[in-house]
Amino acid sequence: MFFKKKQADVFVDERLSHIAFIMDGNGRWAKSRSLPRKIGHRQGALAFEKIVKECSRLGIKTVTVYAFSTENWKRPKEEIDAIMELLGNYIDRAKEEKGTKYVFLGDKSVLSKELREKMENLENESSNSENTLNIAFNYGGRAELVNAFNELLKEGKESIVEDDISSHLYTRASKDPDLIVRTANECRISNFLLWQCAYSEFYFTKVLWPDFDEKELHKAIESFYNRKRNYGGV
Ligand code: FPP
Repeated sequence: MFFKKKQADVFVDERLSHIAFIMDGNGRWAKSRSLPRKIGHRQGALAFEKIVKECSRLGIKTVTVYAFSTENWKRPKEEIDAIMELLGNYIDRAKEEKGTKYVFLGDKSVLSKELREKMENLENESSNSENTLNIAFNYGGRAELVNAFNELLKEGKESIVEDDISSHLYTRASKDPDLIVRTANECRISNFLLWQCAYSEFYFTKVLWPDFDEKELHKAIESFYNRKRNYGGV
C-alpha cells in the first residue's frame, strides 16, 4: 500500500513577519487561454485568498498585496470595473472573518462611494486583530511619499527625521516588508513600497500570479531563509 508522503512544512519565524506581493501576470494567464483579461483577475483573486490563508497558517503576521496601482487607471474601463467588483465581493466575504486587521493603502477618495464605504467599514470593524492584511488599492509609492510630506508640512515641521516619514505613510502601522515577491517574470518595483523596501529581500519568479500556489510560496520562503541580511553591516 502506498501512502502519500506529507510534504515537510516550511519554517517561518520572526525574521519573516511581513511579506508583500506584486501579483503580476493575470492578463497573460488569461491571454494564454484565449480568455478575457477580467477572468485572469478573477483567477488572481482566488490565488490571493489562497496565499493570504497560507501566510496566516504559517504564522506570517503581516501580508501586503498590490491590487491596483495609481497607474492602473490607464486600463480599459471594463477591466477596471472588474477589479473594483472583485474587491467589493472580497470585502463582503472578509467582513465575516475574524482575526485579521484590514488596512487599505492608497487614496480612496476617487473610488465609488459604495466601494469606499465598504473599505472604511472593513477597516473600522477589524481594527483590533493580530494579523494584518494591507491591500494596496489606488496606491502609488511616490504619491504615498508626497502625501506624507504634505501632512508633515501641515503639522508645521521645519526639519524631519526618517521616523517622521515612516509614521506618515499609509503603512504606518506595519513594519517594513522582510520579503517582496513579484510573479510573472518582471523584475521591477513598479512604484510599490518605495520607502519601505529599503532593506527588503526580493524574490522574482516566472510563475504567473493565478498559478502562484502554496508550493510556490514555500519556495519563496525557502529562498528568503537562504539569504544573509546584513543591513549594510558585515
Ligand atoms: C497585474 O497583472 C495585476 C493587477 C493589476 C491586478 C491584481 C488584482 C488581483 C489579483 C485581483 C485582486 C483582487 C482583490 C480581491 C484584491 P496584469 O493584469 O498586469 O497581468 P499582465 O502583465 O500579464 O497583463
